[in-house]
Amino acid sequence: MVKIGNIEIAEFPLLLAPMEDVSDPPFRAVCKQNGADLMYTEFISSEGLIRDAAKSRQKLDIFEYERPIGIQLFGGNVDSMREAAEIATAARPDLIDINYGCPVKAVACKGAGAALLQDIPKMVRMTEEVVKSTHLPVTVKTRLGWDEQTKNIVEVAERLQDIGIKALSIHGRTRVQMYKGSADWTLIAKVKENPRMHIPIFGNGDIDTPQKALEYKNRYGVDGLMIGRASIGYPWIFNEIKHFLATGEMLIAPDLNERVKVAKQHLDFSIRWKGPKLGVFEMRRHYTNYFKGMQDIKPYRTRLVEAPTAEAVHEILDELVNAVEFSTSLSVL
Ligand SMILES: Cc1cc2nc3c(=O)[nH]c(=O)nc-3n(C[C@H](O)[C@H](O)[C@H](O)COP(=O)(O)O)c2cc1C
Repeated sequence: MVKIGNIEIAEFPLLLAPMEDVSDPPFRAVCKQNGADLMYTEFISSEGLIRDAAKSRQKLDIFEYERPIGIQLFGGNVDSMREAAEIATAARPDLIDINYGCPVKAVACKGAGAALLQDIPKMVRMTEEVVKSTHLPVTVKTRLGWDEQTKNIVEVAERLQDIGIKALSIHGRTRVQMYKGSADWTLIAKVKENPRMHIPIFGNGDIDTPQKALEYKNRYGVDGLMIGRASIGYPWIFNEIKHFLATGEMLIAPDLNERVKVAKQHLDFSIRWKGPKLGVFEMRRHYTNYFKGMQDIKPYRTRLVEAPTAEAVHEILDELVNAVEFSTSLSVL
């Protein structure tokens, strides 16, 4: 059983990656329901938390059924990160995660996220302060290094473990790579193979099928997998991977009724959590993925992203189900 501190997670945990504007409570609810073992909030600005900015505060909202759940923090200032960790601890998550991986300029140029990969002593100091400021297990998510010349993750992992982090998730790209090319898991495997390492190492980057999950589990020996983009609009990926790892067989892909059911749940939760306007608006980015690969979906998708209210969205989804049922019944005749 993989444990983070004293928290038992699973035999081979599947983690939902923290994703800004995606891994909010409505999305996390559908991922949990579909097999995610450990989830994180999207990253939360330490400066925003300290300023008491409403937007940052709202991201601290977690629900009992989400456990175990981690709150992810980012920032460029050690004191602010310590203070933010205290605020996050008061929100009662199961763990605190620090982001040292965000490559986006607005974050990295302020000395936060992946920028810390250029200043390992500061990263170590910051982590140590966060670890000291909370009774919760602290985990870190980072990348291989800043650029091709500074892929220092093996050394970084040891140093972070030495000051008390309880698990490490590694995205197999450098900051300079952003999201380009394919993730390189060989260095992730090196971290795992290092005999000095004893905390769980989770691999991240490009896992998008059960077959790839099995291949990477076996080839790179990680303790679990963190999945990001492949779960957007396809939360079934978690149970599909679990089933495949356990049996070597593929689950049948969700049919249209199932997709519509989950999309509706997601929308309804979005509205409860964000209000009718923002809930409908922010759900629009998910429809393409919920119905990806389905035939004749385009006109419905266009209408879904223009629908102004939840009722209108529900009507379009019902119409879609009826249209598909009708054409299926014709083809059986
Ligand atoms: C839309 C989006 C938002 C993201 N936001 C965060 C974030 O808030 N914190 C973080 O550590 N990583 C963030 N990431 C990176 C992911 O957690 C993950 O490391 C990356 O997408 C690679 O995994 P994947 O190939 O499974 O998607 C984000 C990625 C995407 C696509």
